[in-house]
Amino acid sequence: MKFFLDTAHIEDVKELLPTGWVDGITTNPSLIAASGRKFLDVIAEMCDLIEGPVSAEVAATDYAMMLTEGRHLAKISGNVAVKLPLTMDGLKACYALTQEGTMVNVTLCFSAAQALLAAKAGATFVSPFVGRLDDVGHDGMALIQEICQIYAMHSFDTEVLAASIRHPQHVIQAAQRGADVATIPPKVIHQLLHHPLTDKGVELFTSDWKKTGQSIL
Ligand code: E4P
Repeated sequence: MKFFLDTAHIEDVKELLPTGWVDGITTNPSLIAASGRKFLDVIAEMCDLIEGPVSAEVAATDYAMMLTEGRHLAKISGNVAVKLPLTMDGLKACYALTQEGTMVNVTLCFSAAQALLAAKAGATFVSPFVGRLDDVGHDGMALIQEICQIYAMHSFDTEVLAASIRHPQHVIQAAQRGADVATIPPKVIHQLLHHPLTDKGVELFTSDWKKTGQSIL
């Protein structure tokens, strides 16, 4: 299973790259707006830092402009995955861009029917938003499982990218249900790591080691 970092902050990427956990990055217009940075600069810097896919979302909502923006974004680097919304225009642009060899992440997926259409349009990734579904009383993880089953049954190459991850259980459940990728906010990555018994254990072993008066080197 791959982990993408869901962030628009270069510092997050630099901090977590040495862990070996970061296989790619996703951004969206809201994350870019919150960062206060220039979108194209952020994407170029991220592509320089990492070999894996860096998702960059178009701003346009009509097919022709999506295609123009997508081609512009794809020129930044070979590892840009153009992010397109799951609309008729978005899926047409997905089909055109993937035919040209550009990776596409079809975003804002909220149903298995939509995911099926994204796969038919040749999407590299489809992003079901589990947290936003949970927010409105639906079961985001059930959707992940449903899409994974359909894709496996019909041998679609599109990877299921669990997005809108809000807490560590989302990551564990996405892994259990067969998601190919989870895009995870840095805060949740840290939550995955920390356990109070680990901290307590390190503290105890460190103080007991000091009592031995020994040194390894
Ligand atoms: C990633 O591709 C999505 O844009 C992101 O996971 C959305 O998360 P949110 O629902 O917390 O905004």
